[in-house]
Amino acid sequence: MRVLVTGSAEGLGLVAAETLLAQGHDVVVHARNAGRAGVLAPLTGRGAGLVVGDFEDRDAVLRIAAELTAGEPPDAVIHNAGVWSGPAVMPVNVIAPYLLTALLAGARRHVYLSSGLHSSGRPSVEGVDWRGRMPGHYGDSKLFLTTFSAALARLRPDVLSNAVDPGWVPTRMGGPGAPDDLELGHQTQEWLATGKDPEALTTGGYWFHRQRRQPHPAVPDIAFQERLLDALAGETGVALPGPR
Ligand SMILES: NC(=O)c1ccc[n+]([C@@H]2O[C@H](COP(=O)([O-])OP(=O)(O)OC[C@H]3O[C@@H](n4cnc5c(N)ncnc54)[C@H](OP(=O)(O)O)[C@@H]3O)[C@@H](O)[C@H]2O)c1
Repeated sequence: MRVLVTGSAEGLGLVAAETLLAQGHDVVVHARNAGRAGVLAPLTGRGAGLVVGDFEDRDAVLRIAAELTAGEPPDAVIHNAGVWSGPAVMPVNVIAPYLLTALLAGARRHVYLSSGLHSSGRPSVEGVDWRGRMPGHYGDSKLFLTTFSAALARLRPDVLSNAVDPGWVPTRMGGPGAPDDLELGHQTQEWLATGKDPEALTTGGYWFHRQRRQPHPAVPDIAFQERLLDALAGETGVALPGPR
């Protein structure tokens, strides 16, 4: 199984990439630039592939998708890269995973890093600053990503699509005092990306520590899913392949 882990120079993405590599999977790691890619030398030294590009830059995301498609495309993607605040919130947390999903046609499993804070999101795409000219709202971005995950599961029965709340864990984003378990915080996404047991082979879930949870009521709302898909396709000029 070839697994791309985005945002793997730090935090949950780094631990997930290390774990998958240690388990014998074929891993592709991702860093925002050559400097940050240096952190990944121990993983590339053990055979991991590497893609480099800043997710704030849409062209860089498109280039990464083209590079992967032209080479050895991943079977699974853990869409982990994320930011907590600032203008990068929508480009990094929503636009980049949307584009990679639409363009990496061969990937059959997608795992999206959501958050319990998706519940604080506003279920509206009206006036959203997708290009990141202004600071974005983290809860909104995770609600959009979780809804996109559910829409993909509904529209693409050939793909396994799931969203994961890793808990509030002690990474750079979570801070040193975060109360949840870092180990449990990365296992669910690895399991959904590569697991072979029947539960790991399900789709359309919102997960916390390998348990399905009820997401925000807007997530399964087909009308909201459709408005979101229209907004993302209109904004990027890239439509999700397959029937709508
Ligand atoms: N920690 C928590 O408590 C928590 C809770 C709920 C959800 N999550 C979600 O879990 C995921 C991982 O979070 P984390 O705690 O591991 O955060 P983190 O330690 O801050 O790591 C975030 C990763 O995303 C990468 N990234 C950020 N902006 C990028 C950009 N413009 N281009 C490319 N890569 C970029 C970072 O690269 P650099 O290191 O180069 O910046 C880093 O590798 C995120 O999606 C987050 O929203 C975390």
